[in-house]
Amino acid sequence: MSDPTRSRSSEESNLLERARRRLPGGVLGTSRYADEAAFVVKHGKGSKIYDVSGREYIDYVLASGPLILGHAHPAVVAAVRAQLEGGSTYFMVNEPIIDLAEEICRAVPCAEQVRFTSTGSEATFFSLRVARTARQRDKILKFEGGYHGAHDYAMMSSSPRSPKAFPAPVPDSSGIPHAIEADVLIAPYNDLATVEGIVATHADELAAVIVEPFQRLIPPQPGFLQGLREITRRHGVLLVFDEVVTGFRLAYGGAQQYYGVVPDIACVGKIVGGGFPLAAVCASAELMTPFDPGQDGKGDFISQSGTLNGNPIAAVAGLATLAELRKPGVYETLHATGRRLMAGLDALARRSGLPAQVVGEPLVFDIVFTDEPITDYRSLQKSDGALARAFTTELIKRGVVKNTQKMYLSLMHGESDVAATLTAAEDALKALPKSRARR
Ligand SMILES: Cc1ncc(COP(=O)(O)O)c(C=O)c1O
Repeated sequence: MSDPTRSRSSEESNLLERARRRLPGGVLGTSRYADEAAFVVKHGKGSKIYDVSGREYIDYVLASGPLILGHAHPAVVAAVRAQLEGGSTYFMVNEPIIDLAEEICRAVPCAEQVRFTSTGSEATFFSLRVARTARQRDKILKFEGGYHGAHDYAMMSSSPRSPKAFPAPVPDSSGIPHAIEADVLIAPYNDLATVEGIVATHADELAAVIVEPFQRLIPPQPGFLQGLREITRRHGVLLVFDEVVTGFRLAYGGAQQYYGVVPDIACVGKIVGGGFPLAAVCASAELMTPFDPGQDGKGDFISQSGTLNGNPIAAVAGLATLAELRKPGVYETLHATGRRLMAGLDALARRSGLPAQVVGEPLVFDIVFTDEPITDYRSLQKSDGALARAFTTELIKRGVVKNTQKMYLSLMHGESDVAATLTAAEDALKALPKSRARR
């Protein structure tokens, strides 16, 4: 294993400088590592990525979740290579995408038909269009702290600095028309009584409740998803599960199988595209009918098109990934590794003298720096974000990379990765400022 503490090469420093000049903030999205931990990826293999300076990292970012088989899995590489020889994209129906649609419908309990998109953001955006079309109502309810991508309806109270009284939304981004705020209601996750009150008050104008069944790091409390199912059904409101993270991850049938609750509409992404741009809206044939171009000019017609919709490279990568996941014992292995890592990290966190605990499910989790129970966004917001960022920085310096508040697990993470991660985490926790120590 290469030494993660060795210093950044001049070639990598130069690349970081070029990135800063040409990419706003030097990055590709909303997050950025501390300068001392920043690096440029050269390649990835299995559970590891390598930077331009030749340093190796155990990777728990996993491309923000798609790579449940790790980097460059041989089955995915072979499928993509074979498909590339036959062309990379067609904008027409092709065999791999039909196979993938069928596989999604076999796996996802609420799916009878599938509309493909390139990103999870598009999938959640169009899922809301499906719900509005079916109910002929404009408003949607989402949960504070829930993330459904970057579109205007999703960017409401995902990470508000100063939350408002429910159900008022707080826009997460500049540039969103104020008019959108009138159509988005916000509720606290894991709080059925408040949801019930908001839904009852707005039932006549509410098309859908959209939820991450497992919200970022926070598991649903027993009965919460069942309660949402019951409340939405009673009020004639559609229930949308955003399974972009949970789909094919918590179980092959996603959160619907894992938690035993079936929504009206689901969005899948990440894993289903095998590391390529692909996501999908899934629902009953009846709800999906408005996507049929034959509806144009006749009845309700949802206009949805995308240059890369049904891209065959993403389809074969997704199919290869799903075939691996269907092999016997795969989910048992993933959950067992995750449970070991979670338990190990939790023990270290609790011994660290800092207010810290592990939150999540065995395939998506992290250390959160608070002693208080985490049940919703506001409890998570009370945790120490500066410590979480410092912990991430210290881990990267020790050859373990993760998002600031999320660790994803892959099938390639083995015993030696778990052991090395726990050693790095112990050292990283020791390096954190003790001024915030538990009293
Ligand atoms: C739950 C959830 N929904 C939607 C999205 C958006 O997906 P994408 O980044 O592919 O647009 C994400 C992305 O992380 C997500 O975590």
